[in-house]
Amino acid sequence: MGYEHILDMKVYIETYGCQMNVGDSEVILSILGKVGYSLTDDMNEADLILANTCSIRDNAEQRIWGRIEQFRLAKRKNKNVRIGIMGCMAERLKSELLESGKVDLVCGPDAYRRLPALLEELGHTTVAMDVELSRTETYADIEPKRIDSNGVSAFVSIMRGCNNVCSYCIVPYTRGVERSRDVESIVREVRTLWEGGYREVTLLGQNVNSYSYTDKEGKHTGFAELLRKVAGEFPAMRIRFSTSNPHDLSDDILYAIAEHENICRHIHLPVQSGSNAMLEKMRRKYTREWYLDRVEAIRRIIPGCSLTTDVIAGFCGESLQDHLDTLSLMDKVGFDSAFMFQYSERPGTLAARKYEDDVPPAEKTRRLNEIIEHQVKTSGRRYAAQMGKVFEVLIEGPSKKSISDLCGRASNNMMCVFEDKHPDRNRVGSTAKVRVVGSTSATLICEEIENAI
Ligand code: SAH
Ligand code: SF4
Ligand code: F3S
Repeated sequence: MGYEHILDMKVYIETYGCQMNVGDSEVILSILGKVGYSLTDDMNEADLILANTCSIRDNAEQRIWGRIEQFRLAKRKNKNVRIGIMGCMAERLKSELLESGKVDLVCGPDAYRRLPALLEELGHTTVAMDVELSRTETYADIEPKRIDSNGVSAFVSIMRGCNNVCSYCIVPYTRGVERSRDVESIVREVRTLWEGGYREVTLLGQNVNSYSYTDKEGKHTGFAELLRKVAGEFPAMRIRFSTSNPHDLSDDILYAIAEHENICRHIHLPVQSGSNAMLEKMRRKYTREWYLDRVEAIRRIIPGCSLTTDVIAGFCGESLQDHLDTLSLMDKVGFDSAFMFQYSERPGTLAARKYEDDVPPAEKTRRLNEIIEHQVKTSGRRYAAQMGKVFEVLIEGPSKKSISDLCGRASNNMMCVFEDKHPDRNRVGSTAKVRVVGSTSATLICEEIENAI
């Protein structure tokens, strides 16, 4: 089988959903690169238009259907263009996508190695699809081709799938069972990044705390050991990770973070709800008390660690009191920031089968807005509390608002903006020492401490 005839083709990729999808698009591009595809950022110039999609909430999917109409306009101009749907929506909807007559190619998250073969098939059939899930695929040997990278910070996927069955969540159905990538291939990828000038990696998985890999000799590595290994081997690389499930957040993991200064002082710890009745129905496997205990452990073991979360408003049967419990938990913890969503029923999940989606839409919106208002105030307070502190910032580039300012994150993940005192130098990827002189609810306004460069 030869792919010569598809040399010099152009692929356009849009990526939706979580960071895992961002990482996957880079795997897709690497696989396609080997058979002659290069990336274009102009849809109208592409031979292949791909959307790497998300199914987490209904509005995520609706957005993709809208984009497909745009892709079809490009196809109208050039009949030879192929439109492909990758990722979670491909996995969830499967042939339904092809039956819509709007797309040519459907490829699920574990089938990307088959993309060249599927494209080959498209040479002589009208549609092609592979949505097989795998128990073993981790794309460990594929070196992702970075897209839209700032050259400083990159995602490294350490596992795929999810073994939890949170009742509201579609991910286990779209991503399959949990499997961890082998330690050596993770270390190799981090080394390649380091040598390529990257200074920060985010280790990715739906539940990184349950990372578990046993090699051929029977040596087992859990997440705490993986952190120790990566942080120890690359002491000047910043290490981040996402997402931590509260249920599996052990003290050992917290100690591993505390032991290494290059592991960033930030944990994203989705709580979802502050009500035990809701947590139980959500099948989150922890209680409000357990969650608060983990927060207490984080603050004890890693002083200065920032905490962010995800919250769902208006889950099935959520009473006003349940909602107030969420607000009170948020007050108690004081998250630095949060992603907040209205519950969206996903077909086929346990919640869709078992519980009525009975909080009226207007009430869901009201509760969500209340949660957001609360959080904006808390974030404002948390950011203001950094006033006067000194942070080391990894410079990512010019700030969004002004090119004479630089931006980058402190270890605690807070975005810092400060005036560039050395515009003659290229400082992206280096660090700066800054002092906080002001804040908003999402940014620290800083000034550089001159003698620290
Ligand atoms: N694996 C991560 C979450 C991945 S999904 C974890 O367990 O924490 C990201 C977030 O989307 C979730 O934390 C949840 O807050 C939200 N989410 C997932 N399913 C949802 C649904 N059906 N409706 C609304 N929000 C949802
Ligand atoms: Fe979904 Fe729960 Fe798995 Fe997160 S842990 S991806 S919320 S099932
Ligand atoms: Fe969305 Fe799939 Fe991620 S459903 S949130 S892209 S795992």
